Amino acid sequence: MILKVARLGHPVIRTPAHPVDPAQISTPQFQRLLDDLVETMREYEGVGLAAPQVHLSIQVAVLEVERPANYPDAPSVPLTFLINPEVTITEHATLDGWEGCLSIPEMRGVAPRYRELRVKALGRSGEPFDFVARDFHARVIQHETDHLRGEVYLDRMRDLRTLSHLAEWRRFALKPAT
Ligand code: NI
Repeated sequence: MILKVARLGHPVIRTPAHPVDPAQISTPQFQRLLDDLVETMREYEGVGLAAPQVHLSIQVAVLEVERPANYPDAPSVPLTFLINPEVTITEHATLDGWEGCLSIPEMRGVAPRYRELRVKALGRSGEPFDFVARDFHARVIQHETDHLRGEVYLDRMRDLRTLSHLAEWRRFALKPAT
C-alpha cells in the first residue's frame, strides 16, 4: 500500500522517533509496514524513506538506489532495512552533494555529509547486522537517520543559496557542486 507522505511543517517530521521493540519486528503488521515503506519509496522515486515521513514516529528507514535518474552520479545501493540504527562516523571529512527529500517536495540543495560511517541496525527479520558505507551511500544513511532524530537536510546546509526548485535544478545544476 502506498502511504501518505508527511511534509515539512507536520510536527512528526520534527519529532525524534522511538526505538522499535525487537519483539514486534516479526509480526505481520510490522512486516506489512516494511513492505509499505518500500512501495511508497519506489512510487515517489526516493532513494530512502524513514517512518516519520509516513506519520510513524519509530526508528525505521529503508534505502534503495537502483534507478538513480534523479541522482545521475550515484552508485546503486541494495534494498536495505534499518531498524533502530546506530551510526558511528568513521571519517570526519565531509563531501558536499545535492539532496532532495520526499517531505520537502520539488526542491534540491547542497549539504555536506561525512564521507564514511559504520551502521549497526536490525534488519527486516530482526537480525543484527552492521556495515561500512562511503560517499553517496553514507549520505543516504545520514539523511535517513537524521529523519529519525527529527532533522532534515535543510538543517545541514551551509549555504541556503544553493536551494533550488527541482525543475530549475534539472536545467542548471545537474553537476554536483563540490
Ligand atoms: Ni528525506
